Amino acid sequence: MRHRPPALVDTHSSFRHLTKGHRLQTSSLIGGKWVGSADGTTLAVTNPATDEVIARVQALGAAETRDAVDAAYRAGPRWASTTAAERGTLIARLATLMRRDVERLARLMTLEQGKPLAEARGEIGYAASFLDWAAEEGKRLKGEIIPASAADKRILVLRQPVGVTAIITPWNFPAAMITRKLGPALAAGCTVVIKPAEDTPLSALAIGELACEAGIPDGVINIITGKAAPIGDAMFDDPRVRKLSFTGSTEVGRMLMGKASKNLLRISLELGGHAPFIVFDDADMDRAVDAAVACKFRNAGQTCICANRFYVQAGVYDEFVSRFAVAIEGLRVGDGLSDGVQIGPLINDAAMEKVESHIQNATSLGGRLVVGGKRVRVDGHADRFYAPTLVAEMTPEMLVCREETFGPVAPVAKFNSESEAITRANDSEFGLAAYFFTRDASRLMRVAESLEYGIVGANDAAPSTAQAPFGGVKHSGLGREGGSHAMDEYSEIKYVSWRL
Ligand code: SIN
Repeated sequence: MRHRPPALVDTHSSFRHLTKGHRLQTSSLIGGKWVGSADGTTLAVTNPATDEVIARVQALGAAETRDAVDAAYRAGPRWASTTAAERGTLIARLATLMRRDVERLARLMTLEQGKPLAEARGEIGYAASFLDWAAEEGKRLKGEIIPASAADKRILVLRQPVGVTAIITPWNFPAAMITRKLGPALAAGCTVVIKPAEDTPLSALAIGELACEAGIPDGVINIITGKAAPIGDAMFDDPRVRKLSFTGSTEVGRMLMGKASKNLLRISLELGGHAPFIVFDDADMDRAVDAAVACKFRNAGQTCICANRFYVQAGVYDEFVSRFAVAIEGLRVGDGLSDGVQIGPLINDAAMEKVESHIQNATSLGGRLVVGGKRVRVDGHADRFYAPTLVAEMTPEMLVCREETFGPVAPVAKFNSESEAITRANDSEFGLAAYFFTRDASRLMRVAESLEYGIVGANDAAPSTAQAPFGGVKHSGLGREGGSHAMDEYSEIKYVSWRL
């Protein structure tokens, strides 16, 4: 290996108190060692709320990526030969350490990602839950014995780890999108190379430190930071990598799927969404309004499964719009570290420009701005806060009705019949999550079955949980994460035909 010694910690002292005096880890983790880039280049990590540089992480390239794959490959056989219970103990220990350090990890996440502290704390618990669940589920990864057609034969089906897994994660959930993949990968006996998003590498590195403290053997988890292209290309060129698990945009997912074809990798892709949220005349309106706020404005709307377009039946349209507007007006925008803030900054300027262009497009096509529709100035902060917004009279031509806005914008349209609602909800290239609210049990089953989405929230806007299969259809991706289905993604089936 050509690594320089671990980079000097360049944490800005002013951020120390915000992370409870803990040194920020800024080096990458390869084969159990904290390493720097061969040429000394670094990447700045900035707080989106203030534009201040929090830290500089190592910008690794192709050579270091190969080293990370090498470390994962070498650690593979030993890790795979441990028992599921041994692996489970270590994975669960990592979850316990994350919970122990929830406050520090949550502050770190808010600093690099911007989400309100309460949401960041919630994400750490959510992230740990994937590890706990996988730690147990690994023990239930069973093979089969199938009756053979000859008396002197036996057919055995074994489940074995896929092998070295490349995990590429997004900035919107810097911890949970890692553990959702890491938990089942480790439990199934795979070793991993994690490439976190450039905007939010610090949470990933902090998880890496805790993994070392948990006693997960060297090389089982490798975490490399840097620019996507050289790292990704080196991963896809290396035949020792056998699996890609990616969460991010449909555009990037499509590109990675092409690159993964070179070595015919197993792939799991959790991509973009454009969730419809349907409110029928017979819905419990209190629940529908509360759920609409929670579903739309979580993480300032920067969530793949958050509601993107609301369809409300004619009989309750005016009531829903006015009650939703009141709830939205009560949301507090500001720095995620400030008490009571519910909407933090957008991740970067490009995100702000996209939100503004969607609003401009909607209003130019007849959308009625009911609440918001403008930037919010937060004293002493970056110009990156957008008011939670409600646009009524959405039409299918509007960008908000077709593209992921990834911001705090709720466009609403009126519909008349159940079949119209289903047709309009399904009129999307995406198929990740959909929501609807009704008190009619027969309609509930009918609509749930008709929606062309991988996840359906029926009177529920918070479907994410460790034991459920999370994933989409159409352009929203391939494969499922969470629950026992996730174990399938990280295990290979081997058939042994045994002649006695
Ligand atoms: C996402 O959709 O961006 C992840 C959110 C979740 O796991 O609930």
